[in-house]
Order: sequence, then structure tokens, then C-alpha cells
Amino acid sequence: MADAKEELIQTIIGRYEKDPGMLIPMMQDIQSEYGYLPQDSLIMLSKTITVPLSRIYSVSTFYSSFRLAPKGQHEVTICMGTVCHLKGAGRISEAVCSQFNVKPGGTTSDRLFSFQAVNCVGACALAPVMVIDGEYYDHMTPESAIEVLSGLSAENEEQENKKAEKKKSKKKSKKKKTSNKEKTE
Ligand code: FES
Repeated sequence: MADAKEELIQTIIGRYEKDPGMLIPMMQDIQSEYGYLPQDSLIMLSKTITVPLSRIYSVSTFYSSFRLAPKGQHEVTICMGTVCHLKGAGRISEAVCSQFNVKPGGTTSDRLFSFQAVNCVGACALAPVMVIDGEYYDHMTPESAIEVLSGLSAENEEQENKKAEKKKSKKKSKKKKTSNKEKTE
């Protein structure tokens, strides 16, 4: 498995003739393969093209299109542009990150939310803005942002419970069918 991964990373690097100046396209190709930038791939990249890992990480955090963790079910973007920042976006980001135990650019451990902070989502009149899966939430406060996200989290939990119940009842009816069959034999 690790070999296949290494092969893939080497193929990507080879596409750009190991040119350190092509670091960003290489990272983009890695991300398009995995949906994010796995740590071991970045280590391999760093060793092969002899660019310090710290530089690769600083590139990955500078560009908001790069992600260091797999995508969550919901993509949450907190606008940190000037207007949103002046209206308290920093406090919203802090509150959300501490409530869900995640950092900007990261994904919650249950893979429900991916968070990212970006510069201006183009709706300054609605500042501070949070965007969830492309839907804009305006005039956010730390409390309202947490409320919206907790609502989604509760919805998800409910759906998971329903799924688990369905699975259970399917298993039960299967068992019933088997025992009925046994009786007739
Ligand atoms: S600064 Fe946040 S939408 Fe423009």
C-alpha cells in the first residue's frame, strides 16, 4: 500500500522533472489524488525535491485551496476578510474552533465539519459571514455560529441513529425469516 503511494507521488514529481519551482502544481496534483495533502506524501515530496518540509507546510497554509486533512461532510468557511474581521470574525472563529476542537484548515474527528478561514467571500454587507456548503449565513456572532453548527450536528446524529435502527430491524427480520425457514424444514 505504502509502495503504491510512493509510486504515485514519484510519478507526480516526475511529471515536473523534480523541479522545486513547480512545488505548487505538484501539491495540487497530490491533493487532486487524495482530496487533501497527506503528511507522508509531503515528507516524500520534501525529500525528493529537497525543499524543506516547513516551506511546504507554509505554502499549504498560505493558500486556502490546500487542505491538510480529509474533507468533512460539511464545508464550513469563516470569512476573515477586513470587514468581517472588524466585525468580530476572529471571535467567531475562536469560538467555533474551541467548541468543535478543530483548527482552521482542519476537520473534526467525526469528519462532520471541515473548517477554513478565507479572505472575503464577497458579501461584506452581510458581515460577519459564515458559509456552509455554499450557503451564506449573515451577521454571525460566536453564539449564532455555534447554534447553526450544533443544529447540523444534531441533525446528523438523528440521521445516524435512524440508520442504525433501520440496520437493527433489518437484522431482526432476517433472523425471523431464518428461524421460520428452520421450522418448516
Ligand atoms: S470581508 Fe467578509 S465578506 Fe468581505
